[in-house]
Amino acid sequence: MRYVSSGESHGRALTAIITGVPAGVPVDSAAIDADLVRRQSGYGRGGRMAIESDRALILSGVRFGRTIGSPVTLSVANRDWDNWTDVMAPQGPATSSARVTAPRPGHADLAGVQKIGSEDCRDILERASARETVARVAAGAVARALLRELGVTITSFVVSIGDVSMDMPAEPSEIDSGAVESSEVRCPDPDASARMIAAIDKARTDGESLGGTFCVTTKGLVPGLGTYAEAAGRLDARLAAAVISIPAIKGVEIGDGFAAAGRPGSQVHDEIAFNEARGFYRRTNHAGGLEGGMTNGEPVWLRAAMKPIPTLMRPLASIDLDTHEPVDASRERSDVCAVPAAAVVAEAEVAMVLADAYLQKFGSDCVDDISAALAAYKARIGR
Ligand SMILES: Cc1cc2nc3c(=O)[nH]c(=O)nc-3n(C[C@H](O)[C@H](O)[C@H](O)COP(=O)(O)O)c2cc1C
Repeated sequence: MRYVSSGESHGRALTAIITGVPAGVPVDSAAIDADLVRRQSGYGRGGRMAIESDRALILSGVRFGRTIGSPVTLSVANRDWDNWTDVMAPQGPATSSARVTAPRPGHADLAGVQKIGSEDCRDILERASARETVARVAAGAVARALLRELGVTITSFVVSIGDVSMDMPAEPSEIDSGAVESSEVRCPDPDASARMIAAIDKARTDGESLGGTFCVTTKGLVPGLGTYAEAAGRLDARLAAAVISIPAIKGVEIGDGFAAAGRPGSQVHDEIAFNEARGFYRRTNHAGGLEGGMTNGEPVWLRAAMKPIPTLMRPLASIDLDTHEPVDASRERSDVCAVPAAAVVAEAEVAMVLADAYLQKFGSDCVDDISAALAAYKARIGR
């Protein structure tokens, strides 16, 4: 199961085509839209999110609420398109006054124009914009619908914004998702939430921006997804690549991650236990549910670090593409902090990787066959 996205930030729409979706997955457009709303929200978002009200239109692959085994196409209209029909016109002459010639540090702008031989950063920034993550979240909602059928759930929560952090819980997958969704910064700790909001307010006042870290957690995964046998099939590698592909994500830690490197082995590795009710299990989950490139049956959890938003209202220094003279970097309407939204995008990326791992192990044509194969596997390994 894979997706490809297309569309520009101020174009007509963002589109996701998802291939390899088995038949029989219940797809509810309201559930897709609910994830899109979660991506749009979060304290610290900019004016653009107030304009857009994202809704997915199902263009193919779903009939009477169930997938039919053909590629699923989802399209999300950009409401702002109406204001950009001149600047983003697919046909007709360019309006030269609309060029962006002051590339923004921290963005794809400068290397992008050099790469493709353009004189207008808009050719780059329209696609490099994180508005593209709308398509990722829509695609991820289809993966999530499949996983739900297989008993798997995925959630996320914000751990830190700027220098404000909550204490990491011992078992992140047990976090109360109600508390997460009722926090404006998607942080389950009310005291840390309040301090994060204050930090975002201060950043906004200062013309600054903030990054942070978040955790993605899962429940219900069987052991043995992924592989120890092939580098490209290792699930830890695939999850890290998927999450770091999100714009502005600069690091991914699986389980205790970097902290584990500073501890002795006896405090890092999760001892193996067994009882009749649970089968094999671990008393701790420092590994984040992954060993040897595979799930080990414990909840998979990972953390990611997002850099501060690069577009600043107090702009950084740049050089004009035409004159080569110093200028302020251009300013697109921008978020001050998008860590809560990035966590929702990461849920979608994790869902896509995990859904694909299930299909690789249990078949890929039809949900009933996949469920039967999964049940037989669970019976064999005693879970
Ligand atoms: C959900 C989300 C929203 C973002 N919003 C903005 C924004 O409003 N302004 C901005 O300059 N960057 C924003 N970014 C970050 C940029 O997209 C990103 O830093 C840029 O594309 C460069 O990619 P890189 O940071 O991976 O090198 C956002 C990222 C995400 C994930």
